[in-house]
Amino acid sequence: TFYPLAATALAYLLGSLSFAVIVSRLMGLNDPRTYGSKNPGATNVLRSGSKAAAVITLLLDALKGWLPVFLVRRYGAALDLGDGTLALVGLAAFLGHLYPVFFRFVGGKGVATALGVLFGVDAVLGLAAGAVWLLMAVLFRYSSLSSLTAAAAAPALYVLASGTAWYAETPVTVALAVMAALLFYRHRENIQRLLAGTESKLGQKKKA
Ligand code: G3P
Repeated sequence: TFYPLAATALAYLLGSLSFAVIVSRLMGLNDPRTYGSKNPGATNVLRSGSKAAAVITLLLDALKGWLPVFLVRRYGAALDLGDGTLALVGLAAFLGHLYPVFFRFVGGKGVATALGVLFGVDAVLGLAAGAVWLLMAVLFRYSSLSSLTAAAAAPALYVLASGTAWYAETPVTVALAVMAALLFYRHRENIQRLLAGTESKLGQKKKA
């Protein structure tokens, strides 16, 4: 049990790097926890007006979800790490983003990191979820709605992409379902705003 636990702990620490805060600080921008939705995530960094900072945040937050999953998938066999550990490290990186040990456990909503995890599990799965996000974004212009739809679709897309039976509770299916549930939980204010018609659209600067 040493290697699975060590891998999970490392993934959590990596996930705890809140790149919205780090990148904004390095680029001399305001702390994303002080404006807009106050969320440390790429969507909110975009509200600073810096597209570059938002894109870098998105990529790095996704990378920290992708890397541990990719490493376990690619090299885990040598250490006897299977699907269970793969699911655990993905979930750990995601939880690190939501509850980062380096930022008083106040983190983001997990969209970019979840997308990275999906890419680590299967590139086609990542592309499919990304396509759902993009389609929803083009149609409705809400980052949150796009994220919620893509997250809800992810477990089903995984089942399709991996060819597992829908009722087969593989560790990865369970991890993706747990991530989707937590992602919805973290978006509860967005959901209220969407229902009230007050959610800000992509690239729009305001909204508390
Ligand atoms: O990445 C989170 C996104 O879905 C919503 O972000 O800042 O609009 O709450 P935000």
